[in-house]
Amino acid sequence: MNSIAQQLKTRFAKAFTSAFGESYADTDLMLAPANNPNFGDFQCNAAMSLGKKLGKPPRAIASAIVENLDIADICETPEIAGPGFINLKLKPAYLEAQIRAIAADTRLGISPTQTPQRIAIDFSSPNIAKEMHVGHLRSTIIGDAIARTLEFQGHDVIRINHIGDWGTQFGMLIAYLREVYPEALTTADALDLGDLVAFYRQAKQRFDTDETFKETARQEVVKLQAGAEDTRRAWKLLCAQSRREFQVIYDLLDIKLTERGESFYNPLLPAVVEDLTELGLLVESDGAKCVFVDGFTNKEGEPLPLIVQKTDGGYNYATTDLAAVRYRIKEDGAKRLIYVTDSGQANHFAQVFAVARKAGWIPEDVEIVHVPFGLVSGEDGKRLKTRGSGDIVRLQDLLDEAIVRFRSILDGILAKEEREETAEFKNRVAQVVGISAVKYADLSHNRISNYMFSYDQMLAPLGNTAPYLLYAYVRVRGIGRKGGIDFNNLDASAPVILQSDAELVLAKHLLQLSEVINAVEGDLLPNRICQYLFELSQKYNQFFEQCPVLKAEEPLRSSRLVLCDLTARTLKLGLGLLGIQVLERM
Ligand code: ARG
Repeated sequence: MNSIAQQLKTRFAKAFTSAFGESYADTDLMLAPANNPNFGDFQCNAAMSLGKKLGKPPRAIASAIVENLDIADICETPEIAGPGFINLKLKPAYLEAQIRAIAADTRLGISPTQTPQRIAIDFSSPNIAKEMHVGHLRSTIIGDAIARTLEFQGHDVIRINHIGDWGTQFGMLIAYLREVYPEALTTADALDLGDLVAFYRQAKQRFDTDETFKETARQEVVKLQAGAEDTRRAWKLLCAQSRREFQVIYDLLDIKLTERGESFYNPLLPAVVEDLTELGLLVESDGAKCVFVDGFTNKEGEPLPLIVQKTDGGYNYATTDLAAVRYRIKEDGAKRLIYVTDSGQANHFAQVFAVARKAGWIPEDVEIVHVPFGLVSGEDGKRLKTRGSGDIVRLQDLLDEAIVRFRSILDGILAKEEREETAEFKNRVAQVVGISAVKYADLSHNRISNYMFSYDQMLAPLGNTAPYLLYAYVRVRGIGRKGGIDFNNLDASAPVILQSDAELVLAKHLLQLSEVINAVEGDLLPNRICQYLFELSQKYNQFFEQCPVLKAEEPLRSSRLVLCDLTARTLKLGLGLLGIQVLERM
């Protein structure tokens, strides 16, 4: 089913060609939602620019468009305003038919894409032996929402966890553990991630201050790369420890990922350098092998190279990413490559993409994008810390805290309403709302901007928060329970009647979901979905206050039940795209 805007576009495109000739088929229609709802629902602003082109007064152009416009089934008679705006007001009968149509469709009228693609999304991607931090949390939540949205659109998405599981840090860590805790290198589960992170810090300190140790560490790297058995086994154990801890977070957040860490590309790195050499793109600079691309300079304004092989022969983060680009395009057949990391890595990706492009590794039909996001700060504006210790906050603590806090809010609400609920119910509600609140707080901000992590804000029952949206859903389900309504079996032939303002406003909003999802498919900004759902909840709540549902007379009662049901289904679907589940009661 086509969105309203899409249907209008088709009609306008026809009008343009019949008014001005076939050569105007691709004119920008400049069709947009009305600036002011008093003037209607949509407006077409093309007459002004066409006026210049055709050398005619814009109002005359607007009249010519309107005369050729066959739109009476969708809109009231269009009005021409000001210099030549065409204002359109949707007919209630049209909206009623559209609502009926989307209500009858499990996908709520949103057709899957006509052009499904294989899409590789690189997200989450924490580093072994290091704590998964808030930046990884953002990447995980945003990447998952993007993946879910693209999957819903019918794309074939590969969710890649590009974990940092390779490199000199392992030499350092293994050399250190051999000294202080050799069991950790031979026995499974001898460490948890907390210990590992502490050892990592100590190892790093040794590495930076002790030349002999540095050499031992280097030799471990060489052994690891050469595949020496005991070093390999130690490395595998360390990875397994970290992986187990990461999985706890993924389970809590309900995130699916395919691990394909940096080590995966190890065998493919020499070919990257060889091919760059053959293409004549490699330059030796201070013994390192580099590629220079236009437009990248350092602070001094000098050309900034992308180093692909260090003086000691080692490869690095960039070499691995070049290999990954090639692999994702050639082996995975991805047509769209998406990387979700903090904006601090924007230059890295820009440079890697530029080198890959210069090398001719990115075909015309492949899109490659970095999806950056901003920083998260604590309420004091500084870095997020655990209370007391001053250490960086552990993700699991952060999520647990949200759950505990909502549990106490919930206890307060239940006490006030004198409601008895089982501990099981309370725990489950707190779990779902706590996790949802953290996810939603992240997703509801434009990802580019920094945002402040505030439990009070994200758990607030009013405002653009997960609890507010979840309550709107619960409200509908409550009506169902109260009226003994089986929403799955509403009478599909019952007429939809849109009379009051609140009903019309709600219906028009319900019909916009497909536009929103299409926009997110393009610009990968999940906050659009949040904003949409927030406004939906507000409009639903207004409708709920102004329009009795169960007490209404037929046929209004059935019509309003359809609006209730559609609102709930839209919330469920939209929240689902964000990786947030709904609750039947809370
Ligand atoms: N492991 C990296 C980090 O923690 C993120 C990796 C992002 N993906 C990539 N292909 N470089 O910063």
